[in-house]
Amino acid sequence: MQAIEVAEPGGPEVLRPVQREQPVPGAGEILIKTTAIGVNRADLLQRQGHYPPPPGASPLLGLECSGTVAALGPDGSGWQAGDPCVALLAGGAYAEYVVAPAGQVVRPPEGVDLVTAGGLIEVAATVLANLDLVGLRAGERFLVHGGAGGIGSFAIQYAKAVGAEVIATAGSPEKLDYCRSVGADHALSYRDDWPAAVESITGGAGLDVILDNMGASYLEDHVRLLGTGGRLVVIGLQGGRKGTLDLGRLLAKRGQVHATSLRPRPVEEKAAICARVAERVWPTITDGRIRPAPQTTFPLAEAAAAHRLLESGDNLGKVLLLPQS
Ligand SMILES: NC(=O)c1ccc[n+]([C@@H]2O[C@H](COP(=O)([O-])OP(=O)(O)OC[C@H]3O[C@@H](n4cnc5c(N)ncnc54)[C@H](OP(=O)(O)O)[C@@H]3O)[C@@H](O)[C@H]2O)c1
Repeated sequence: MQAIEVAEPGGPEVLRPVQREQPVPGAGEILIKTTAIGVNRADLLQRQGHYPPPPGASPLLGLECSGTVAALGPDGSGWQAGDPCVALLAGGAYAEYVVAPAGQVVRPPEGVDLVTAGGLIEVAATVLANLDLVGLRAGERFLVHGGAGGIGSFAIQYAKAVGAEVIATAGSPEKLDYCRSVGADHALSYRDDWPAAVESITGGAGLDVILDNMGASYLEDHVRLLGTGGRLVVIGLQGGRKGTLDLGRLLAKRGQVHATSLRPRPVEEKAAICARVAERVWPTITDGRIRPAPQTTFPLAEAAAAHRLLESGDNLGKVLLLPQS
């Protein structure tokens, strides 16, 4: 099969098309013939050598895909060869075939084509797991950064479906328009004084929940902007990993700070999250409450170009690789 290998840690040019043996599904695993492969920010970090795969995971990049069931491992049941599916993976998706634990494979949302489906489960699982963790409720004030990105555009729509008031940030006027078009009540440029703008929107009551992709560089502002009982959940470290946490401010507000990562969780936890995504998120996509982000597609062999686009920050929505083109 064709796969994309990281020749050595480095820039997009280190991504090379190679021929590899097709993987063989073990007990409780499913072999998937990939249709579309989601490109995620974590893939850029892994390519640079900063985000090694968890023990036992494929060394190939790729945390999600859509496709069709090609074969079942021993004791596999519930699937037939040819069934359409999507998978959440710890790695290995940048290939024509990938093996996934059966619990991390679900049917695509009804009414969604298989290419679009390839970029849904990583963001859906991340947003659902984290907003469940901090218990986002109807009527609460919610802030998400990068509202036109993969996670951000999904988080805006999911929070609106929950009934929250949504503030999103983005880096350009077009992306701010996109945030509004998918339901953000307020769209703020992160290049301006967004903390002051948040303060004037919340009128001193503060934010209830923040889904944070930045980490250290926004930590002090985030803790200051939380309201009483507010919850900050850090899922990305684009602004660094070490910051100053004002515990006095946090305890006065009875606030919470969480930090989570989806990829290294045990298979059973990921399986439980995938089941919740299929049960609670897929119907909101099928009925149109959540619209999949726009996609930019590249042939699998052009993975380097896909990484360049994601790295440039110029893309809107999801970037996908297509093995069959
Ligand atoms: N912990 C987990 O389990 C987990 C799982 C998946 C993703 N993540 C993390 O979630 C984040 C988003 O992932 P993604 O797949 O959605 O990537 P993405 O589409 O590349 O989004 C990155 C976002 O960061 C925004 N951004 C850049 N500079 C910013 C700044 N100074 N202030 C605020 N926002 C800024 C960008 O906004 P513009 O495009 O408007 O510039 C963009 O929307 C990444 O950090 C990723 O590592 C974590």
